[in-house]
Amino acid sequence: MRITAKDIVMDGAEVLRQKAVEVELPLNRKDRNTLLDLITYVRNSRDEEYREKYNVKASVGIAAPQIGISKKMLAVSIQDEDTSIEFALVNPKIVSNSTQRAYLENGESCLSVSPDVEGIVPRYAKITVRAYNLLTDRIENIRLTGYPAIVMQHEIDHLYGHLYYDHINKNDPWAPVPGAIVI
Ligand code: NI
Repeated sequence: MRITAKDIVMDGAEVLRQKAVEVELPLNRKDRNTLLDLITYVRNSRDEEYREKYNVKASVGIAAPQIGISKKMLAVSIQDEDTSIEFALVNPKIVSNSTQRAYLENGESCLSVSPDVEGIVPRYAKITVRAYNLLTDRIENIRLTGYPAIVMQHEIDHLYGHLYYDHINKNDPWAPVPGAIVI
């Protein structure tokens, strides 16, 4: 299935607030195809022509609940000057994290949230995620810092019914976070 704009579940839908269920391994064909659809979507969304043709937003990650499937699967694909990483993960779990925080200077956005909610979204600066990665066919311990760590935490949040703006300080959205790394 080709995921396009009409398939993206928007904020307000219950599925975005549910805790997703664990996925059985080895993956059955249906779950495997869903995860491949997710990574394909993120890869394609980098291409401007593709975005116009299918009316999709540029993205670096997507989680299964965002297409209405409440299962613990997500895809991340980041290709820029500094970073080249891709993950198609099943049952990801943050197994360790730094006490230090980090956040994106300009805040975060999400395919399922429109318009953007502005403000600082504090995250862990470093995480280790344990998950099955379909792209390597292995269970991996993935250490991430910087921008990829932020993206991964955003996507894992989706598997627990959290949206990025839940983390924004309601009274003072741009209040500095002491000691945090600004990305
Ligand atoms: Ni999101």
